[in-house]
Amino acid sequence: MKIIQVKDYQAMSEKACEIIVERMQELEKPVLGLATGSTPEGMYECLIKKNKEGNVSFKNTSTFNLDEYVGIAEEDPNSYHYFMHDKFLDHVDIEEENSHLPSGLEKDMDKECKEYEQMIRDAGGIDLQVLGIGVNGHIGFNEPGTPFTKETHVVELTDSTRKANSRYFASIDEVPTHAISMGPETIMQSKEILLLISGENKADAVAKLIEGDVSEQVPVSILKNHENVTLIVDEAALSKTKIK
Ligand code: PGA
Repeated sequence: MKIIQVKDYQAMSEKACEIIVERMQELEKPVLGLATGSTPEGMYECLIKKNKEGNVSFKNTSTFNLDEYVGIAEEDPNSYHYFMHDKFLDHVDIEEENSHLPSGLEKDMDKECKEYEQMIRDAGGIDLQVLGIGVNGHIGFNEPGTPFTKETHVVELTDSTRKANSRYFASIDEVPTHAISMGPETIMQSKEILLLISGENKADAVAKLIEGDVSEQVPVSILKNHENVTLIVDEAALSKTKIK
């Protein structure tokens, strides 16, 4: 795992943006794996700016998001569909049919999971997957204990994740109990992974990742088994880690 240490959130966002733009310039038809949450927002702002300035185009790019809540309408401001359109997709020159998020609204969710995997395969796999982590070390919505062999699946959210995400909802009771998420196995099939981590509330998770073993109890630790991972981490998130 390559580790890039940066000062703060702004520097993390700009570095991630720079790496994505670089990769997009190398690839004819880039396939990006995208994430929601506070972590990638600054990166999206930077990518929008680069697109508007004419430094990068998303015309030939396809995107696949990691996850979505189960049972929330796409128009609901708390859905990940809404987030992605609001923060990124509606502001760049990507073709609507090329941006994909799993649906949390299907009657047959198992079928949706299989179809989402197939869509990723049909696109040729993910070239570059952007990831954040949860305070409990989750990636996507793969909570501690998720078998590393899982592909896209429906997950029950832990109390810790529901509490962390309740900041977007009127109360914790409104936070969905389930989500659909790419599995650890789906994520590991990406050709390259960019892991973004900022803030003191992630410091314990970062210490477990860097100093600890690979364990299903720390979902992000699976990335140590991937050969092309870059971690961009700021000072606050590194505050509990002995790096050298
Ligand atoms: P955050 O969420 O970027 O809002 O901190 C990350 C996550 O829960 O995976």
